[in-house]
Formats: sequence, C-alpha cells, structure tokens
Amino acid sequence: MEVIIRDSAEAGCVLGAKILASVIREKPAAVIGLATGRTPLRLYQELIRLHREDGLDFSQVTTFNLDEYVGLAGTHVQSYRYFMQENLFRHINIDLTRTHVPNGIAIDLHVECRAYEEKIIAAGGIDLQLLGLGRNGHIGFNEPTGSLRSRTWIKILSEQTLRDNSDVFGSMDLMPKHALTMGVGTILDARRCLLLAFGPAKVRAVEHMVEGPLAAICPGSALQLHPRATVILDENSAAGLRYADHYRWVDRNKFAWQRHG
Ligand code: F6R
Repeated sequence: MEVIIRDSAEAGCVLGAKILASVIREKPAAVIGLATGRTPLRLYQELIRLHREDGLDFSQVTTFNLDEYVGLAGTHVQSYRYFMQENLFRHINIDLTRTHVPNGIAIDLHVECRAYEEKIIAAGGIDLQLLGLGRNGHIGFNEPTGSLRSRTWIKILSEQTLRDNSDVFGSMDLMPKHALTMGVGTILDARRCLLLAFGPAKVRAVEHMVEGPLAAICPGSALQLHPRATVILDENSAAGLRYADHYRWVDRNKFAWQRHG
C-alpha cells in the first residue's frame, strides 16, 4: 500500500485529482470507479477545473459509482446519482449514458446487483477506483464484519454510518437503512485503488486500515491485499500511524517516475 501524507485535505484532494487525471490522459476511454460523501468533493472541483482550464477530456470515460441508497430515485436530492450529477457530471463533458450508479429503486434489487457486476465486466473492469473511508472502516457501504470477498449486494447500514450521514437527511429516521454497494471483492478487482481520508474523525479507521491486521472488522484493511492501492491522508488522519515517518521517507525517496506530483 502506498501511503501519502499531505499537510492538508486541500493538498490531498489536488493530488488525488492529478492521479485520476493522469489515468484519463493515458487512457481516454478509462473506466473510473467513483465515490460520494464529503471527502471527494474538493477532488471533483479540481477535476472540473482541469476540464475547463487544461482540457481534461471525459468524453470517452465510463464511470461506476460505489453505491446508492435503496428506495431513492436518481432524482431525489439525497440520492448518490443526484450527488454525482450536481458535483461532477453536469460540469464536465461526460456522456451520461456511460455513467453508472446502482439503481436503488430497481424492482428486483438482486437482479440489479448482478447486472451491475456484469456491466463492470462488460466495460473491461475498473481502471481506477476512488474510495473514501467510513469512520468505522467501511469502504463503499461494506460495514464492519461483512465478507471481504463480497460482490455488489444489498447492505444494511450500521448505526454509526446512519449517524454520520444523517445530517443531510435532517434525522436518522428519514434515512434509508439499506444501500446497494459494490462488494469488497468488487473493489479489490479494480486495477488501481485510490483512497482518500482526512480529518481527526478518521484516525482510528486509518490506523487499522493501513497498519492493523487484515480483518473484516475494518473492511478498508482489505486494501492491504491490493497490488496497487494508494492512500492519501492529511496530518490529522495520519496522526495515529506508527510508521508515519517511514511513509514520509519513502515519499521523499521515490524515483521521479514513481512520483504523482
Ligand atoms: C460513498 C461511500 C462511503 C464514503 C464514506 C466516507 O460513496 O461509499 O464509503 O466514502 O462513508 O464518507 P465521507 O467522505 O462523507 O466522510
């Protein structure tokens, strides 16, 4: 796992956008896995800037989002489809027919989950999967103790996750308690993973994900098995890492071709 510590979330997001943009420049028809939540917002703003000012071209890019709430249509303001539309898609030249978010109002959710997996395979697999990290160590909506080999499925959100995400819904009671999410196995199949985690609330989860045992209690720790996972942190989220100085040392001593910027 490549661990990069930046002074601020701002610097981390700019770096994350740079990595994502380099994947698209190298392969204009790249397949990118996307995340929602607070963490990638600044990264999406930077991608929009790169599109407007540097001509970053999304016209051939295909995207697959990690997850969606069960019961919310894509037009619902709290749905993840709506989030993507507002925070990224409508600002760039992406072909919306190439953007995929699980359908939370599908008549048969099991069929929807299987179809989502099949669509990822048909697109040639995911080149780079962007991820955030839940305070409880979840990736996608794969909550602690779920299978580390899971595929896209219906997951029940933990009380911690409901509490963390309820502000936008007004109260926990108004929040869907279920989500469709790529499984941990689906995420690990991506050719590259790029996880961003910032702020003091993520310290414990980051510590376990990077240095703790590989364990279903922290689904993010499954990234320890991934051959090409990059984790971008800020000083706050990295505060609990025993080997922080080692990661900084490695960062300073990379060959030019190993640097992201
Ligand atoms: C979002 C997702 C979640 C979030 C995680 C962190 O699509 O899959 O795993 O990445 O809950 O959320 P924030 O970024 O709001 O702290």
